[in-house]
Amino acid sequence: MFWRKKEPEDYIEKKQYQKAISLYKERLKEQPKNTALLMNLADALLLDQQLDLAIREYKKIADLHTGQGFVLKAIAIYKKILKLQPENKEVEHMLTNLSERLAMTNESPTPKGDAVSTPASPAIEIESRLFEDLSREEFQQVVNRLKLRYFEKNSVIVKEGEPGDSMFVVVHGDVRVLTHTPNKVEVFLANLGEGEFFGEIALLTGKPRTATIITNSQSELMELTRDDYDNIIAKYPHVKKVVEEFHLQRTYKTVEAMIQALEQKSTS
Ligand code: CMP
Repeated sequence: MFWRKKEPEDYIEKKQYQKAISLYKERLKEQPKNTALLMNLADALLLDQQLDLAIREYKKIADLHTGQGFVLKAIAIYKKILKLQPENKEVEHMLTNLSERLAMTNESPTPKGDAVSTPASPAIEIESRLFEDLSREEFQQVVNRLKLRYFEKNSVIVKEGEPGDSMFVVVHGDVRVLTHTPNKVEVFLANLGEGEFFGEIALLTGKPRTATIITNSQSELMELTRDDYDNIIAKYPHVKKVVEEFHLQRTYKTVEAMIQALEQKSTS
C-alpha cells in the first residue's frame, strides 16, 4: 500500500480546518507573498468560522494585488470582504482609495507604460479594456455596481438564444465562447481571460445571447446588470461607446468564424 503525505485539501475535505490552516501557514513561511496560498488560508479560516482572521488575510491579498497593479483582483477581494462584513468602513475606504489611485493613472499625462509612481501612492493600471478609458467618476460608478460571482469549472454562464440581462468581467479564471451555425455546427469563437468582458451584445441590442459562455476553470466574475448598466450610460454615454466598439468587433469576428466553419463543412 502506498502512503501519501496529507495535503491541506485532504483536511479541508474532512472538515479538519485547524490542521489545514497549520499546513497553509507552514507553507506561507516559505512564500509569504503567494496570493493563491494566502487565499487558501483565508478560505480555511472562514470555514473554521474565524471571520476576523480570515478578513485580515483577505486584506493582505488585496494589498498584494494592488501593489502589483491588479486592480480588478483587489476590487474583487474587497467586495468579498464587504459581503462578509457589509459595514466594514475601512474596506469601503480602501475601495474608494483604489479608484482614486486609478484615476491618477488615467488622468496622468504620462504615456502608458511609463507611469511615474510615488512610494506613498503608486499609480496603478487597470487590466480591463472595459475600464481603460473611464474617468475616475465613471469608474467608481461602475465598480460600485459590480457584483462578485463564483463559478465552478464547466459552468454555463450565458446560453446562446436565451434572453440576457447582464454582462460580466472575468476577474480570475477563463471562459470559452461558442456559437452555432444555422445548421447546428458548433463554432469556437474565443477564450476570454482575466480582464476581458462578455455579455454586452444582449445588453446593447436587447436581443437573445449570440453565444454560449462556459468556464474553462474555476472562475470569479463580476456581473453588471442591465439596470445598473442603463443607469451608468444615462449619466456617462462614454461607457456605452467602449462597449459598442467591442460589440462591433465581435459581431464581425463571429460572422467570419461562421463563414469559415460553413466553408470547411462544405469541403469536407
Ligand atoms: P451576448 O450576445 O450578450 O452573450 C454572448 C457573448 O459572447 C456576447 O454577448 C459577447 O460578449 C461574446 N461574444 C460573441 N461573439 C464573440 C466573439 N467573436 N469573440 C469574443 N466574444 C464574443
